[in-house]
Amino acid sequence: MEIKKHNGIFVGGASGMALATAELFREKGGNVAILDLPKSAGAAVAERLGGTFHPCNVMDYAATEKAIDEAVQALGSVHFCCNTAGGGLAKRTLTREGPHPLEEFQRVIDLNLISAFNISRLISAKMAQNEPNEDGERGCIINTASIAAFEGQIGQVAYAAAKAGIAGMTFVMARDLGSMGIRTNAIAPSLFDTGLTSGIPEEFALALTKDAAFPKKMGKPIHYAIQAISIYENAMMNGGTIRVDAGQRFGPK
Ligand SMILES: NC(=O)c1ccc[n+]([C@@H]2O[C@H](COP(=O)([O-])OP(=O)(O)OC[C@H]3O[C@@H](n4cnc5c(N)ncnc54)[C@H](O)[C@@H]3O)[C@@H](O)[C@H]2O)c1
Repeated sequence: MEIKKHNGIFVGGASGMALATAELFREKGGNVAILDLPKSAGAAVAERLGGTFHPCNVMDYAATEKAIDEAVQALGSVHFCCNTAGGGLAKRTLTREGPHPLEEFQRVIDLNLISAFNISRLISAKMAQNEPNEDGERGCIINTASIAAFEGQIGQVAYAAAKAGIAGMTFVMARDLGSMGIRTNAIAPSLFDTGLTSGIPEEFALALTKDAAFPKKMGKPIHYAIQAISIYENAMMNGGTIRVDAGQRFGPK
């Protein structure tokens, strides 16, 4: 799909990978709306990009629906949704202190998987109202998995389950939404220089990326953004979970 004059919603867009994607989308002539936590830099980011900010916590599903409604109203329609809101937890299935607390497992599933499904189902209903382009396309949704979806490390049991859920549902959503001309993909980054891993010392970064093929470096937000924009522009990209990982395969630790 063409980006010029198209409308994108960037969930988690106040920072990191979704921010870089929003910047690139804007640079290519698209309009943006940012959804992120109220305490985030979303308002300043939206102002800089000439867009609007709609604060919400994606774990509050009703508030997210309201924020999506408001964002689509501000934009007029939505063709692109890029969602990175999420996060992890370091806890093993069983430790000396006892089994993994169930509510902590559930929280990570809610934050990463249920919220991504909630956003995708609501956004797809908005996209279905678009006039299709000459190729029959109405929209494109990208959620964010992780290479932990495929080789989660010790202590990543909840996170890996949530991200594997995103990878699993992506292909089915592509099938579900295909007749409406809506494509759904996920991006699975390796370690990126964003969020919690942002600005860690060089020697730690080297240790964390030692198993990468090349380059042995953490990814930058722009590496995610280039992939996301390419998925948007390429009508053949559908149903996939695309690794952006420098050939890295996580070991157990
Ligand atoms: N950084 C990595 O190494 C890495 C690797 C693989 C996958 N990921 C995934 O990338 C995503 C994080 O993106 P990033 O790395 O650009 O980090 P980031 O912290 O720079 O950006 C994430 C944005 O999401 C927002 N956010 C977090 N929780 C939210 C919530 N409950 N409701 C609304 N907004 C919320 C944050 O405020 C932030 O602006 C997560 O889904 C994470 O699992 C990150």
